[in-house]
Amino acid sequence: MTQDELKTQVGIAALKYVTPDSVIGVGTGSTVNKFIEALAGAIARGELKITGAVSSSVASTQLLERYGIPVFEANEVTRLGVYIDGADEIDGEGYMIKGGGAALTREKIVASLADKFICIADESKLVKALGAFPLPVEVIPMASSHIQRRFAAKGGVATTRLKDGKPLVTDNGQHILDVTGLKIKEPLAFELGVNQWSGVLTVGVFAQQKASVCLLGTSAGVKTIEY
Ligand code: 5RP
Repeated sequence: MTQDELKTQVGIAALKYVTPDSVIGVGTGSTVNKFIEALAGAIARGELKITGAVSSSVASTQLLERYGIPVFEANEVTRLGVYIDGADEIDGEGYMIKGGGAALTREKIVASLADKFICIADESKLVKALGAFPLPVEVIPMASSHIQRRFAAKGGVATTRLKDGKPLVTDNGQHILDVTGLKIKEPLAFELGVNQWSGVLTVGVFAQQKASVCLLGTSAGVKTIEY
């Protein structure tokens, strides 16, 4: 099976976590796009009805709206039953690295509103320890150099993510640093520590908002891992 087929498989599998007539949280990325397509298909066939979604990015909002799925602001809801999103890495405890699609801040906000985080990922994302994938960190641009020096002191190399030769600007108007060379042994302590640094908006370690369930796409079918 191709990686694309594995993503399709978990996108479909996530439908069973959607409570009918509820508002759900929706993440960002190519795997989530498969989920949105599966959701739209189920709604069109009359198999599922939802009230709408809270989205974690402009890109996901556009796709949801293209399929006629109502999108609510995060401030319009108090709780969400589920948040469904992908990951760049997920470990055996449900801790994740996210932000490869630059949507980490809104992803963390929507995830924090949800009772359950359903992570959908192909098997390449399952790791023993977090850190091989460059860690995304959303930063206030004027703090970039200072934060790069702080990561250097931890043995990391932080580079500004570029788009068309210029710093990528997130949906929140900020920049992303991608950090290589880190060993993230204690994800919760790491997340809490880096979050305290001046100018850090969001660090892409999801430990406080870790996955409740991972639907892992494998060539032998979807594996469900509960944390
Ligand atoms: C976006 C994310 C994505 O969930 C992550 O990058 C995985 O993306 P994909 O499903 O395309 O592999 O965190 O900010």
